[in-house]
Amino acid sequence: MKTYKEEIAELLAPHVGLPASEIRDALTLPQHDGHGHFSFPCFPLAKRLRKAPPVIAQELATAIPAQGEIEKIEPLNGYLNFFINESDFARRTLSLIAAQGANYGATDRGNGKTVVIDYSSPNMGKELAFHHLRGTMIGNSLSRLYRHAGFQVVRINHLGDWGTSYGKLIVMFLREGLRESDLEGMSIERLNALYKAFENAAREDATLEDQARETFQQLEAGHARYQGLWAAFRDITLHELQRIYGFLNVQFDHYTGEAFFVAHMPKTLAELESKGLMTRSQGADIVDLTAHNMPPVLLRKSDGATLYITRDIAAAVYRKENYAFDRCLYIVDNGQSLHFQQLNKVLELMGYAWHKEVEHVPFGLVLIKGEDGGWEKGKTRSGQSSLLKDVITAAQEKILGIINEKNPDAKDKETLARQIGVGALVFSELKNRRLNDIRFEWDKALSFEGDSGPYVQNAHVRLCSILRKSAERFGKSEPDHPAAGSLDGIDFGKFPEPQAQTLIRSLSLFADRIRNAIDANDPCPIAQYALEIAEGTHSFLHVCRALGSAEEKERLFLVDCARIVLGQALAMIGVPPIESM
Ligand code: ARG
Repeated sequence: MKTYKEEIAELLAPHVGLPASEIRDALTLPQHDGHGHFSFPCFPLAKRLRKAPPVIAQELATAIPAQGEIEKIEPLNGYLNFFINESDFARRTLSLIAAQGANYGATDRGNGKTVVIDYSSPNMGKELAFHHLRGTMIGNSLSRLYRHAGFQVVRINHLGDWGTSYGKLIVMFLREGLRESDLEGMSIERLNALYKAFENAAREDATLEDQARETFQQLEAGHARYQGLWAAFRDITLHELQRIYGFLNVQFDHYTGEAFFVAHMPKTLAELESKGLMTRSQGADIVDLTAHNMPPVLLRKSDGATLYITRDIAAAVYRKENYAFDRCLYIVDNGQSLHFQQLNKVLELMGYAWHKEVEHVPFGLVLIKGEDGGWEKGKTRSGQSSLLKDVITAAQEKILGIINEKNPDAKDKETLARQIGVGALVFSELKNRRLNDIRFEWDKALSFEGDSGPYVQNAHVRLCSILRKSAERFGKSEPDHPAAGSLDGIDFGKFPEPQAQTLIRSLSLFADRIRNAIDANDPCPIAQYALEIAEGTHSFLHVCRALGSAEEKERLFLVDCARIVLGQALAMIGVPPIESM
């Protein structure tokens, strides 16, 4: 089945002298109600046709007669607006959703292309902090969106698992008299505590820092016992990371972190040297970027240790060689912009034309109200630590309190409360444009009204519960899913209410919104889209009772379609699409 956009594009193509696919992508949605279903902006044609856009729109409107499901074609201020017959529009939109189900909104845009997405990538030995949530969920969402748009996606967690920190942990581990036998069942808290203990002890004893550096050098040189300890620390951290990722339903294809690239260092340095990019400066090896108005890149310190950026250079080359990516995205906060500019420049100087495909996708800070009422980075209000697991638990507890009050008989309340809590946290981070700083407020995030996670989840629950009730009337335990059945006997003319039409219109936009999100490398349009459907659902249900109405069949069908699309949109942003509350 052709989409309306494809149909309109074919209609326009002979008149505007552009390929249909280009016209299809140029078609927009009218900003205002009453301006039709699709708009063709004539502005880009003005130069070539040497006419004012309103004139072009007028001429096109005269030249192209309304036909088929297109009821009217009207020029308006340089736009050509297309009006589709409402019942045809409902039929085509809803039957497409019904036919495609979970695949609805999928496109072949990525067709054969591979995108590597590096996200979350925390440093080992420490626990995930609240501020890690944003990058983790932006990356998770982009992975899902790119996949839906037909891309091959490689999800990478580039763990910060190499560096002097590991020397510190080993020093402290041994200093506290711990042994390998103590590693069994050691918690991440314990590791964290060792790290903190080191920092404290090092304030008293300045030689500890040197010890840590030496220990790290020995680790780098292959010291067997240290390597064993390092591997155990890594396992402990990974185990905890995956527990939290489990709550968030976040997955990775590879945990190839910095340590993985240690073995690549000689090759990378040799390549930089042979390409004449490496210079010596005060005993260290650097790439001088003065000519490009950037500070030098430190590749290798005078003690021989390589750095974060050296490993990132190796990692980029490795990714290109192994995944043949068309794009490689780094979802990392904007504090690291210089690092990625330098990385890109070095890759360019190395002669890699694909440096253009390597892109830093930065995002803004999450600010939290401090004890003095000011906004600050990272720390949460008194009594609540900034560890992500603690924030998730706090959200879960707050929601559990509400559930106990409103619906004490709910099933599996703990899990439900966590899913709503996670939904609230995630939604409040993704509903804003990626580059904006966010002011995180508990009350707003956990609210069941307004633009919050619980509010959009609640719309999904409402849709699911109507379908459950519908089935219960006939003693069925599984909810009804009319969209999975036949379209026979459905009268798509039975949606005269503006609320129904608005909802259907919103449902038709999923693929467009995914395109917007991918163009901007930002899940925000999908979070806003989920909000739009949630609002549309509430207004539709407010005026249109489904069960027991004369239009029951049609309305249940629409309810099921809305459930499918909203459920998908929520899943794409990592907000659990729960079915009951
Ligand atoms: N581990 C780094 C940090 O916590 C982020 C790594 C991002 N990815 C990369 N390839 N540099 O700041």
